[in-house]
Amino acid sequence: MSAAVIAISLQKGGVGKTTTAINLGAALAELGFRTLIIDLDPQGNASSGLGVHPPEDAPTIAEVLRREETLENIVEPTAEKNLFVAPAPTGQMLAEVEAQLVAEMFPQPRLKDAIDACRDDWDYVLLDCPPTLGRLTVNAFMAADEVLAPVQCQYFALEGLRDLTAVVQQVKSALNPNLEIGRYLLTMSEGAKKLSQEVEADMRQAYGSKVFKNVIPYNVKLAEAPSSERSVLKHASTSKGAKAYRAVAKELSNGRSPKAR
Ligand SMILES: Nc1ncnc2c1ncn2[C@@H]1O[C@H](COP(=O)(O)OP(=O)(O)OP(=O)(O)O)[C@@H](O)[C@H]1O
Ligand SMILES: [Mg+2]
Repeated sequence: MSAAVIAISLQKGGVGKTTTAINLGAALAELGFRTLIIDLDPQGNASSGLGVHPPEDAPTIAEVLRREETLENIVEPTAEKNLFVAPAPTGQMLAEVEAQLVAEMFPQPRLKDAIDACRDDWDYVLLDCPPTLGRLTVNAFMAADEVLAPVQCQYFALEGLRDLTAVVQQVKSALNPNLEIGRYLLTMSEGAKKLSQEVEADMRQAYGSKVFKNVIPYNVKLAEAPSSERSVLKHASTSKGAKAYRAVAKELSNGRSPKAR
């Protein structure tokens, strides 16, 4: 079985996309899955949060999207076994690449081609998308098998899900028939609070079994971990945040075992 490619996306900022990419990735890696996180956010938080700081002249995902470099050549190991990152460039470069993508008459499957060239090397490829539905995200959706949307247990949580669904449907019908519409992961839940309970109930009613059973709690260890340049699994192994991401990784992999290599 070749890699499952999952785009972690929601066009709302600060909902836990990068936190999920890092820690779900780390939890899959801990289960023995060879996992690659592709950092598609110009802020580069998925790279820096795992201690990956490419030198300024090193090729990054920007060169891969320009078809100047293979994915294999830019992948960096992290300090965690089985966990690798394809870093984003610092500065404006990814924004420039996105402007180039906008100029294309038809969106080209740039990321998909790059992943296809090394699909067998990976069990999971997680795409940390920027908080927009622009061309970088469309390129991620063209490459993905499914979209995972983190939903923050806050006011207006369901806002934006309809736009996300519409874009996923458009990409599915025009560009990537394989794309499966989302799974939803509830994040930053304060289980004792009425608001979190309401959001959870609304989500389960609207999306049923597409919502992960396991919920990510609000846990300060998750916010601290990036400054230690490690996942929460290494930063605070027994924290509620670490346990929750481990549980989601089990739920996601659902009995699948790592490929023998
Ligand atoms: N479960 C959580 N508990 C506590 N803090 C969290 C949790 N999840 C994320 N955070 C914190 O919330 C902030 C936003 O999270 P994150 O960067 O993962 O969101 P994002 O969706 O990737 O944001 P952006 O849209 O800007 O890329 C970060 O400071 C992060 O450390
Ligand atoms: Mg992010």
